[in-house]
Amino acid sequence: MTSNLIVQAPEGITKYTDRLADPCIMVIFGASGDLTKRLLMPALFNLYCGGLLSSEFAIIGIAFDNLDTESFRKKMTEDIKKFNTRKVFDENQWDEFVQKLQYTQGDFSDPEAYKRLAVLINATEAKLKTEGNTLFYMATPPSVFELVSSNLQSSGVKNSEKGWVRAIFEKPFGHDLKTAVELNRLLLKHWKEEQIYRIDHYLGKETVQNILAFRFANGIFEPLWNKEHIDHIQFSVMETVGVESRGKYYETAGVLRDMIQNHMFQMLAYLCMEPPSSFKPDAIRNQKSELLDAVRIMTPEMVRTHTVRGQYGPGKKWDESPAPGYRQEPDVSPTSNTETFACLKLFIDNWRWDGVPIYLRSGKNLWKRGTEIMVQFKNPPDILGRGQSASNARVPNRLFFHIQPDQGIELRVQGKSPGPTMSTQTINMRFDYSESFESSRGTGYEVLLYNCMIGDATLFSRTDLVETAWRIAQPIFDVWEKEPAGDFPNYPAGGWGPKKTYDLIENDGRNWVEVVSRDVLEKIPLFKDTGKIFLYNLAINLRPDIYAPGDFIIKKGEVGTEMFIISSGSVEVLDDQGKIINTMSDGAFFGEISLLNASPRTASIRATSDCDIFILAKKDFDRVLKTYPEFLGKIKKIAEDRYKVKLPTA
Ligand code: BG6
Repeated sequence: MTSNLIVQAPEGITKYTDRLADPCIMVIFGASGDLTKRLLMPALFNLYCGGLLSSEFAIIGIAFDNLDTESFRKKMTEDIKKFNTRKVFDENQWDEFVQKLQYTQGDFSDPEAYKRLAVLINATEAKLKTEGNTLFYMATPPSVFELVSSNLQSSGVKNSEKGWVRAIFEKPFGHDLKTAVELNRLLLKHWKEEQIYRIDHYLGKETVQNILAFRFANGIFEPLWNKEHIDHIQFSVMETVGVESRGKYYETAGVLRDMIQNHMFQMLAYLCMEPPSSFKPDAIRNQKSELLDAVRIMTPEMVRTHTVRGQYGPGKKWDESPAPGYRQEPDVSPTSNTETFACLKLFIDNWRWDGVPIYLRSGKNLWKRGTEIMVQFKNPPDILGRGQSASNARVPNRLFFHIQPDQGIELRVQGKSPGPTMSTQTINMRFDYSESFESSRGTGYEVLLYNCMIGDATLFSRTDLVETAWRIAQPIFDVWEKEPAGDFPNYPAGGWGPKKTYDLIENDGRNWVEVVSRDVLEKIPLFKDTGKIFLYNLAINLRPDIYAPGDFIIKKGEVGTEMFIISSGSVEVLDDQGKIINTMSDGAFFGEISLLNASPRTASIRATSDCDIFILAKKDFDRVLKTYPEFLGKIKKIAEDRYKVKLPTA
């Protein structure tokens, strides 16, 4: 997991709000594990430095490891140096904070451990006057949720007469619909619904929470937020990391369980739900639940036509270093059927969204990291191009929610290109977190822990929400399990994902809109040193597509309407007789001659491997050349050298 932004006043006086968290004792089960050192301690320390924790606050760690309070504090002191997210780490503040930590060793199945815990809680409470408020954090595998809950119950540790008692659980909440229902049943045996706080760390992200503020605190979007005005919606969560050391877990999960069923469905609910009557927890959670309930459940046939799954094979990392295929990762079966990439086309059967396709995709080991939501509005009528042949003035407006690593909102609209004629181009209006807020890096857990301590459950999942999300995913698991993928691995590490993902959306007459950043384009030699505005203009006009080995990308004699830039992969250039006269790979471009000369294509180009290709339409190509004559010079020189031709000067 990566860091997130928390909005704050200058360093050291963070205030989300004037309300302090309630006094409480936080008991962390699994306190010697990864989650505690990487996320919980840094987040709690950030809250402490921000002045948001009550002075009546204490942490009790419990785990199997043979530690005591002193060695636990020492260990946390070493770990925080590595994992804290402070701009400046203040040793004095940490020395104060670490005094709040205590530890008790225990086996979670041993009743004695709970007795020791009870003694420690009672003594701490008597000393600090924490009003009986106790927060249990299960930083443990789900397999022990029920064991710990039932032991807490039978030992009386969680039965405080005064104050509140809450429990935070980490995902996964079950493995499928059946196990999720069973887990919920067991949890509800020991806890009341309002005591259960299920963490989905995506809901801790400022940019995800901002979806609600953006939709419901503004007057201009809500009237447009429906099937009358919106053509379709895209959700993309692209990761450059592979499964690394998590092979054992990932083999039982796959991306549908790991990312889509939880994080992406939560974002889907925020983006598409009906307006809540207030921002109170249940008002929001009711609407989310209703929305997920309206998602069409797929039949087996729909699973075959509306989903794509992928698994990465050997390739390269984003930094060009070699990357193993998924089946070669530690603890992964060499014949694994686990998907590391998935794409779904969903429909929401309600009055607002009837017939609007929602495309979701997520994958590991891809060419770029980025979580983006794109809402595409319907095409305007073709007034500007009226009376002209081959008009292509109908460009839809697109609204982007940049969730991470870019954080902001962007609206792409058409504007007039400067000059004597009325021609339009895509421009954008953009809000960036980094430009509008003083912000400091956090873990994303600060807001979740804080909200739990004040009893606000808005950002946590409820039993019905969890089950509804599984209900949407279950038919997909069923078909995928019954019908193993025959084509794994089907995308190289470092690539754009499986070609079928592009086919799925292109068959609907649409295409994925990639958010291409400057650094991605700068890696291509043609664009090196071309300047910020140039790259910005180019980036918002490129269309990505994937070709499989053997696919013809251009055919000799055709009239050229596009230029192509190879992001990764290789192609061959064929003459009339089908003889190979040249080959090209990453970073090369082709198709420009026919655009420059306004003549038919002089050769055919065929993919010889999986090819991820950026496509620039003639209209944008012409405009770019007109605006940036130095780029025209560069492109012409390369083309003339390559084809030994002389191109016209004007
Ligand atoms: C976790 C998944 O829930 O989310 C990981 O288990 C994934 O596999 C991570 O990498 C992504 O989180 P983020 O915040 O980096 O998008």
